[in-house]
Amino acid sequence: MAEETNQNEAMKWNGCPGPILLLGAPAVGKGTQAKELTRVWKIPQISTGDILRSNVALGTDLGRIAKGLMDRGDLVPDYLMNEMINMRLRKPDTFRGYILDGFPRTLAQADWLDNRLEMQAAAKAQEHCSGLVAVSIRLDYNRLIRRVTGRRNCPVCHRIYNIYGLPPKREGFCDVEGEPLYTRADDTLEAFENRMRAYRELTEPVIEHYRQMGSFAEIDGGEPMGIVTVKIVEAVYSFRSQTAAQ
Ligand code: AP5
Ligand code: MG
Repeated sequence: MAEETNQNEAMKWNGCPGPILLLGAPAVGKGTQAKELTRVWKIPQISTGDILRSNVALGTDLGRIAKGLMDRGDLVPDYLMNEMINMRLRKPDTFRGYILDGFPRTLAQADWLDNRLEMQAAAKAQEHCSGLVAVSIRLDYNRLIRRVTGRRNCPVCHRIYNIYGLPPKREGFCDVEGEPLYTRADDTLEAFENRMRAYRELTEPVIEHYRQMGSFAEIDGGEPMGIVTVKIVEAVYSFRSQTAAQ
């Protein structure tokens, strides 16, 4: 009963979520959760993978550099990623907070972000909600394989489906747009193995970095989608209410 009350409070809370990092392996559910959380908190999802894919589709200079790397499952260089995030975080819709999905992915990116947030806090630009909360979503390897091979995306609204776990009502078509769904170019087993290698070598140290820093939660990504969302919301709410009480 007490647990339910806490959940209700967390879901109704309309304070300042601040910067939220969603960390985890490829296909663990970061994008799926980020989309749910934007609805709960009315703050933007900033997905580095989505921004890069739209640059590839538009044929920009960044897109041309990124395409080959992404298709193989290699990371795009840090300086390009940091600059891309820097531009995005200048937009006013990030003032109450934002959900970073897929960034930072290397310790160099994490250092850059930590410095940016520190400078912002020093300038009291976003005083009441400047500290970040990092959420690591976990799932075992075999289930990640099903997530990646079963993923289908809508080209219009970017909804994410899974033929095994979260299928559309009509096979092959988006529930909302009615558009044919597509499979991402990097959703091959070969590219997935490379992405896992990059994750283990470069991103797991980032997760350890934020674990040490505190304001860190670990969530089981194997639960149904709605339960994972509630667990993330509760974790962030609990950190934010502690900060407000200090
Ligand atoms: P990116 O697009 O970020 O790929 P990723 O990290 O590999 O993550 P995914 O998008 O594959 O998975 P996800 O965790 O979002 O899972 P999803 O919600 O879709 O990056 C792509 C590439 O861009 C990188 O490889 C790199 O080249 C480059 N890049 C991006 N950021 C970079 C950076 N910072 N630095 C350098 N390079 C960068 O869910 C997966 C599936 O599971 C879906 O089918 C979904 O329907 C299903 N699912 C989700 N949750 C559940 C659930 N609870 N139950 C059942 N099914 C579920
Ligand atoms: Mg994603």
